[in-house]
Amino acid sequence: MTTYKSSSLVRAVIGLLTVLLIAGWVGLAPSTPSAWAVKGNPEAGKKTYEQFCLPCHGATGKGDGPTGKYLTPKPADYSTSMPQYGEKWAEYYFKIISEGGAAVGRSPLMAPWGKQLKESEIWDVISYVETLTKADK
Ligand code: HEC
Repeated sequence: MTTYKSSSLVRAVIGLLTVLLIAGWVGLAPSTPSAWAVKGNPEAGKKTYEQFCLPCHGATGKGDGPTGKYLTPKPADYSTSMPQYGEKWAEYYFKIISEGGAAVGRSPLMAPWGKQLKESEIWDVISYVETLTKADK
């Protein structure tokens, strides 16, 4: 009797843990930064990038745009900057793009774009920037 009771308790606990594990995984998945970035539309982002970002960040995102090359500090090369932030890169990029360099302790030459660009447009730009770093390799 006791063995039966304890084994059904074990099964109940395992079942509960499995449910929690799946719920946790499903709940976390959509909020991972890379999943957000993938949601952006790189085609739309390209237009925004060429209009607002290219002068400083350059056509290939190396920070060597016509204005960018004269700046100190220069805009970072995305392909070397992005990996420094690990999984949080897209979240960090969203913050610096919408709130500006000064908001994250970086150069104020990186302006806040949160007023000119909609949240979805920022994600489009981020997904385009991501394609630039991949084209590089
Ligand atoms: C006036 C020039 C200028 C423009 C225009 C500009 N940026 Fe920047 N950006 C910078 C500079 C300079 C930095 C580097 C700040 C630092 O390192 O302190 C920077 C940094 C960044 C970073 C962070 C990179 C890192 O490694 O920390 C991202 C992301 C970024 N810019 C995206 C954009 C996007 C997207 C646009 C267009 C919507 C844009 N920038 C427009 C000058 C500019």
